[in-house]
Amino acid sequence: MRITTPTTAPARAAADVLAVAVSKPPELSGELADLDSALGGRVEQIVRSGEFRGTRGQIVTLDGGSGAVRARRVVLVGLGSRPGADDVRAAAGAAAKAALAARALTVAFATGDIPLDPPTATRCIVEGALVGSYRFDRYRTTGADERPKPLRSVAVLGGDRAAARRASVVTAALNRARDLQNTPSNHLGPEQLAERAREIAAAHPTLKVEVRDERWMRGKGMGALLAVAQANGAPARLIGLRHTPSRPKRRDVVLGLVGKGVTFDSGGLSIKPARSLVGMKYDMSGAAAVLEATAAIAELGLPVRVVTIAGATENLIDSRGFKVDDIITAANGKTIEITNTDAEGRLVLADCMHYARMLGATHLVDVATLTGAVVVALGDTHAGLMGRDQEWLDRVRDAGERSGEHVWQLPLLETHRRFLRSEYADMVNSSSAGMAGPSYAARFLQEFAGEGPWAHLDIAGTADLARTRGDEFPKGGTGFGVRLLVELAESLC
Ligand code: BES
Ligand code: MN
Ligand code: ZN
Repeated sequence: MRITTPTTAPARAAADVLAVAVSKPPELSGELADLDSALGGRVEQIVRSGEFRGTRGQIVTLDGGSGAVRARRVVLVGLGSRPGADDVRAAAGAAAKAALAARALTVAFATGDIPLDPPTATRCIVEGALVGSYRFDRYRTTGADERPKPLRSVAVLGGDRAAARRASVVTAALNRARDLQNTPSNHLGPEQLAERAREIAAAHPTLKVEVRDERWMRGKGMGALLAVAQANGAPARLIGLRHTPSRPKRRDVVLGLVGKGVTFDSGGLSIKPARSLVGMKYDMSGAAAVLEATAAIAELGLPVRVVTIAGATENLIDSRGFKVDDIITAANGKTIEITNTDAEGRLVLADCMHYARMLGATHLVDVATLTGAVVVALGDTHAGLMGRDQEWLDRVRDAGERSGEHVWQLPLLETHRRFLRSEYADMVNSSSAGMAGPSYAARFLQEFAGEGPWAHLDIAGTADLARTRGDEFPKGGTGFGVRLLVELAESLC
């Protein structure tokens, strides 16, 4: 899709749909007043009548196409009262959907009355429009004629050019992550994730790819990842990408990104109940996020070194599968007594985090759909943030706030260590205490986080939506993590 930032006045914009975001209560000043005159007072009319109140996401569509307004339709979209960046994203998403419904191929967004600085407004509009117009139709064989054609171009009138370019690169990466997430595990297993990493590397000269098989993992002693992979039909893959810019800003920083890539989580022998199995194709969302974020970092040419590791496997059931009571040895030499085969994500991450440190990662972030408990605690609005080194955690949180991917810190305390205690091994993989699930999982991961700052993002609640949140995202994968990680990488440049 083409993203442009012409300086055209809204009424003169040559697009199928002109979208105008309006705060609550609507004020007929600035660009909106100009547009109202061009439309012969029709905006004032629908505001007066109370039909349009500017409530967040409210849409009213007016006819354009007269002499005074070039666009065929004018979409007024509400921002709500005292709108912030999230409201602009939501409004842009709603407007993009209305434009698609009007069978538009081109949309222009007015920006004059949006109460954000121009780069931020531009970025939020591009993100909202690209996220809101995303579709996952790959597996529909019927109805293609009835569905709207994808948008061809989005113009942000008077927008900031650099911000538009950056946002279009990052949001395209976000949507590719959503494609990976939404693809079910019979079409996307570990090898298909690896293939995507190879494609990413082939497209960017600063990137090198590394794909390893189970034999290689055995050689490295990756007994934790391999235990999960034991029941596999589709063999596991360890996937690496390395971004080496020619002039990194900071010699002392190698950003390490680690993603959980469980392409389907049945729970294994500790099998999930039928209802909890639905949606477990999304258990590779962390891997999708770190791979596509790395692609965006390379495409933007960010001068920061990055090593990205995704651990890809299924967690299935088979007579060869790992079992409860098994004791396994991770790549860092620590032994783990298995008390629940459904606590598999932390096993995958354990070996991947250790490997990322071996490759020189100085600052680590892992991203994983790790616990149902984080969904209970934080819902679908915030990912759980835990880790070591408060300065690093603050930096991750700030990157989340700036990017619109919000995270909320949960405790990670030394006292959580008591839940790890095993009768026979260095630790158990699942505590019977039934308390503080996300913190316990993080405390387990800490055993494998090596030296230096480390942040753990539990995205089980934010990676995919079972119902809409009333913003620009429909049900399904959200690509959560892509925008935060790019923002974080930028903060190190
Ligand atoms: N992939 C799940 C976590 C999950 C749950 C993601 C719900 C999305 C929605 C993870 O592997 C898991 O099964 N975690 C267990 C851990 C428990 C056995 C300690 C859980 O949360 O129940
Ligand atoms: Mn599980
Ligand atoms: Zn899982």
